[in-house]
Amino acid sequence: MTKIRIAIQKSGRLNEESLQILKDCGISIDNGKDQLKASSRNFPMEVFYLRNGDIPQYLRDGVVDIAIIGENVLIEKGEDISIAEKLGFSKCKVSLAVPKSVKYNSVKDFEGKRIATSYPNTVLNYLKDKGVKADLHIINGSVEIAPNIGLADAICDIVSSGSTLFKNNLKEVEVMLTSEAVLAVSPKISNERRELLEKLQFRIQSVLRARA
Ligand code: PRP
Ligand code: MG
Repeated sequence: MTKIRIAIQKSGRLNEESLQILKDCGISIDNGKDQLKASSRNFPMEVFYLRNGDIPQYLRDGVVDIAIIGENVLIEKGEDISIAEKLGFSKCKVSLAVPKSVKYNSVKDFEGKRIATSYPNTVLNYLKDKGVKADLHIINGSVEIAPNIGLADAICDIVSSGSTLFKNNLKEVEVMLTSEAVLAVSPKISNERRELLEKLQFRIQSVLRARA
């Protein structure tokens, strides 16, 4: 039997709510956070637990058919990948932040500054639009530490509650984009699996209506 292959975040902010929405769709997944792969007992679906940043490439290659992923990750790494549904959870911003003590006037202040981030394309596009040139330091985690250890003058990162910025004496000065979890689709999905996607979307839409 053909199964639709869905990628969800292995751990982190999207994981729990991604499993919850599948559950609300009546799809039971054999629990397997520790495994890479799990199957549903009552829907032709295989779940792959993957790292967020790797998911766009898996979609592009057709290794998975669909994914629940942050829109911001698609903007950063998967502009070629289409979105079937916005899912309304895991809302966040991708923002530029500077130390609280810094006097901030405008985005021009970033000219020539060192910005630490895991979202280089997003920052570059944003600054290019404003005619500003900065020096990016690409790091994969703990971005908020960078100004405190003298690695950068500013950061670009996800902001949700704002507590990470607060704890690290940083302030948000530019919101580059807002994001939420989305259902993304591989450009290589087969027709047979597209039918399963349509079934899933039908269920998701009624769950979202009930939640509204
Ligand atoms: C993001 C981001 C901040 C934090 C912001 O990290 O990098 O650290 O969330 O959220 P807040 O505004 O509610 O404090 P995440 O937990 O997604 O993990 P990562 O940085 O390890 O990828
Ligand atoms: Mg973080």
